[in-house]
Amino acid sequence: MACWCVHARMPGPASVLGGCWWKPSYGADVGSRADKLGAGMMFDDLVQSVARRLVRFSKRRSRRNLHAWLEESIREFSANGQGLVINIGAGGEVAGWLDDLGVRATSIDIDPNRHPDLVADMEDLSALADASVSMAICIEVLEHVRHPHLAVRELNRVLQPGGVLVGSTPFLLGIHDAPADYFRYTSHGLRMLFADFELLQLRERNGYFDAVAVLLLRRFAVGTRGERTAALLLSPVLIALTYILELIGRVLHSTDGTTGYFFVYRKLEKTMHSEPDNVDADRPKAQDNGG
Ligand SMILES: C[S@@+](CC[C@H](N)C(=O)[O-])C[C@H]1O[C@@H](n2cnc3c(N)ncnc32)[C@H](O)[C@@H]1O
Repeated sequence: MACWCVHARMPGPASVLGGCWWKPSYGADVGSRADKLGAGMMFDDLVQSVARRLVRFSKRRSRRNLHAWLEESIREFSANGQGLVINIGAGGEVAGWLDDLGVRATSIDIDPNRHPDLVADMEDLSALADASVSMAICIEVLEHVRHPHLAVRELNRVLQPGGVLVGSTPFLLGIHDAPADYFRYTSHGLRMLFADFELLQLRERNGYFDAVAVLLLRRFAVGTRGERTAALLLSPVLIALTYILELIGRVLHSTDGTTGYFFVYRKLEKTMHSEPDNVDADRPKAQDNGG
């Protein structure tokens, strides 16, 4: 009995040190259970690590061209005007890109945990004076805004006439940052939303087949535990498929799908309240694609 107690407290090799001549099965069980637990934890770590890598890879594919276009626009337009540069949606990689470009931007975010310079909902930028901003950067935020028309009205108010909004928003992308993920915009929806601005650029970040690849990658990277575990085996296939879909997309180029849009709008010298010509022009040509 005394022997059992020693083993209970010091299983495995400790039982020998405890002076007992037999190797208790209790200690062996605990040892193998500990081994299994260790192996299980290593496996979980591996699953998590592959999932994280897939998320990073899918993000790079989804945000394709974004960095280069943002840089291009900043170089082209940041010298316009003397006002503030604001970066709405703080804490992501965009803040780092702006730092690298030497842009001193005031960061604004609804979430204080992102440590922005100004905690504010972009639907209400009352902390900023009218016409005080020469450039507003708003990358991957509009889909999270509950009343986008209010946000756009605020952008119009705080921008100087001739001031520029540089932004992006996803189109074919899974729900993220739930539950605060409310909308997906088509290029036509964006034209409607920014009808009071002058359109300078509206581009698809990539094509339909790239979007399919990103949807697949994210399905396995941020899906259920089973899907993330499957990603361990499937990741080489998913990565190969991504490049195959990219090649297909180059041949069968299609603009009716993309992971998202990049846009540059300029505030008009005099604000007009109208629908853009190109939206009306789309109407008679609208086709039923079964959507
Ligand atoms: C997907 S992250 C994008 C972050 C960064 N722009 C980037 O691309 O790396 C969206 C950010 O927008 C912020 N956000 C969401 N709704 C907002 C709102 N109504 N006003 C201001 N910021 C908002 C979120 O807190 C989050 O930091």
